[in-house]
Amino acid sequence: MEYILAPSILAADFGNLRQDVKTVAEAGAQYIHIDVMDGMFVPSISFGMPVIKSIRSCTDKVFDVHMMVEDPGRYVESIRAAGADIITVHQEACTHLDRVIGQIKASGAKAGVALNPATPVSTLECVLDQVDMVLVMSVNPGFGGQKFIPYTLDKVRALRQYFDRKGLSTDIQVDGGVSAANVKEIMLAGANVFVAGSAVFGGDAAARTKEFVEIFSSMQ
Ligand code: DX5
Ligand code: ZN
Repeated sequence: MEYILAPSILAADFGNLRQDVKTVAEAGAQYIHIDVMDGMFVPSISFGMPVIKSIRSCTDKVFDVHMMVEDPGRYVESIRAAGADIITVHQEACTHLDRVIGQIKASGAKAGVALNPATPVSTLECVLDQVDMVLVMSVNPGFGGQKFIPYTLDKVRALRQYFDRKGLSTDIQVDGGVSAANVKEIMLAGANVFVAGSAVFGGDAAARTKEFVEIFSSMQ
């Protein structure tokens, strides 16, 4: 399995964002995780298309955009145009989830669907075969630096079992409270894409990125 680190720029220095993106990209992060927050679906407001556009030219790594936004279908085309390669929307934020997944795919991006900690995997039963990635939130979305919620790993296990049974190589991403100390356990549960905000940007971002990458190769 290919293991991927997706540093979340929510924890980066916004005054030095282009350099922070380059640092983690050069240190071996394959994705850049970009948290868009609207102050409605989650309490915080982060940033939107202009910021994504302004960092697009720093790297050709995958821009993995996590939309913590009500009714995200309104923004699919403009987020794609700003430079998103993967667009992940919350199940809880979409009345017409099937339509939004179709919209994301039609835009040329990969489609991800996210689940809050309290939302069961069964809510995705009808669309699981259509998505490129499922994002299992391991904290309640809205803020960086929160503590990992262990029961969310049961959802990772259930999803991996489902995809294995179906012969699908769909990505399973885990986001929130991921660190070098707990990432192995999350890998063993079946996830392969790991978002890390404070665990990467809370210190020497290049060294911390490399530490994750080394853990990944030790588990191959
Ligand atoms: C939380 C965001 C996360 C956040 C993770 O709502 O979706 O991507 O940046 O931060 P850490 O890794 O610090 O928990
Ligand atoms: Zn996120």
